[in-house]
Amino acid sequence: MTTTLPAGAPTDLGAAFAHINGVTAPTVDDLKIMVLLEAAGLELYRGMASGASSPEVAALLEHNGREELAHAHRVAKAIMVISGESFPPPASVDNPYLGAALPQTPVTAEALRSLAQGEFAGEQLYERWAANVGNPDAAQQFRQNGREETEHGQRLIQAAELIEA
Ligand SMILES: [Fe+2]
Ligand SMILES: [Fe+2]
Repeated sequence: MTTTLPAGAPTDLGAAFAHINGVTAPTVDDLKIMVLLEAAGLELYRGMASGASSPEVAALLEHNGREELAHAHRVAKAIMVISGESFPPPASVDNPYLGAALPQTPVTAEALRSLAQGEFAGEQLYERWAANVGNPDAAQQFRQNGREETEHGQRLIQAAELIEA
């Protein structure tokens, strides 16, 4: 069954990303949106991997995708420690942000470098959330995710260099 969005939450993927990128101190509803976006990251990276020009590039993208799902689980853990509420990442088929056709990102070096900047920004976003959330256990989950967003950016640059080689 499709996961129900929090009341007033953006209903499409692009609007949800835009909303989340502007959040400095997340509410539980913001964290639910983040669970869904991180979980969607698995499919977004898988989709890109299927269009990659080499198995090496595909493997880097799939590695990032698997970790995005792990990020969704950590944000769900943060929701649990903050509110006691269970909000596990849904299967992709039940994710309301994966209902529409997914954006098709061509796997060019330029696109990967641009996506890398988004990943580095994700690290800063999680760092801000960790500083502002007021819960040390939740902050720890955010910081772990943030460190891995930096690694995602580095992997994307590595993939771009493979394409350019
Ligand atoms: Fe992530
Ligand atoms: Fe990431």
